[in-house]
Amino acid sequence: MWEYTDKVMDLFYNPRNQGTITEKEEGQAITTGEVGSIACGDALRLHLKVDEKTEIILAARFQTFGCASAIASSSALTELLVGKTLDEALSLTNKEIADFLGGLPEEKMHCSVMGQEALEAAIFNYRGIPLDNHEDDEGALICRCFGVTDSRIRRIVLENNLSTAEQVTNYVKAGGGCGSCLADIDDLIAEIVQEKATAVAVATEVVKAKSETKPLTNLQKITLIQQILEEEIKPMLAKDGGDVELFDIEGDLVKVMLKGACGSCASSTATLKGGIEARLKEQVSPDLTVIAV
Ligand code: FES
Repeated sequence: MWEYTDKVMDLFYNPRNQGTITEKEEGQAITTGEVGSIACGDALRLHLKVDEKTEIILAARFQTFGCASAIASSSALTELLVGKTLDEALSLTNKEIADFLGGLPEEKMHCSVMGQEALEAAIFNYRGIPLDNHEDDEGALICRCFGVTDSRIRRIVLENNLSTAEQVTNYVKAGGGCGSCLADIDDLIAEIVQEKATAVAVATEVVKAKSETKPLTNLQKITLIQQILEEEIKPMLAKDGGDVELFDIEGDLVKVMLKGACGSCASSTATLKGGIEARLKEQVSPDLTVIAV
């Protein structure tokens, strides 16, 4: 028997906002996001009513097939969403859903992840962004049993500070079938730990170099640019279905590839100069110029 908090039990027995949304007024839109499958044991369909002008979520309802924690997580999600703009909602993490419930047993954390993924699916649907543009669906397939890519595992590991393959299974089910991917998940976690250690070491050196007003070495500059793109720029662009990859660095010229929705967006120049270049100038060097290739 799982140890559930009082909040989980309350929302399981008295779920808030269960059902669908069928009625809307002029200037409002209804969007739906669906994740999981009944065959896999959990499925969630999230419905949102959105004010088209302000993009504020006016109502949220859910239909969930699953256990007590799946129903409680869905109910918590709907309560967290009402009143937020779509951009604010996109920054919601599965950890915030679990925290709202006073915590979940680790073996049930995948229920909070399912809520967050249904939310992203609903917003992508509203914005007309194909779901396969989602950054989590890019990259190599690690777990064939549950269709989980390395990008998705990477995001969950970083957001929840996970350190074992068993934890990854609890959060996204990867590794919980035939188990043949567990060694790959261990390797990926080791890679992420190493990257984090390198990033911390470089950041420390950069702070030291700046305090001593020494110019950054080429390696420090490249590592810092990559770090800012990965940790700040890519998550920001992903909210609108876009992406960016570092192509090359020649002296102070930074060449990037705009991908996804950014590749065809009319305001890609503003993204390039106002978003990416301005951030890199501020964080790395005022002499940098960013161009798209
Ligand atoms: S391939 Fe991941 S559990 Fe089977």
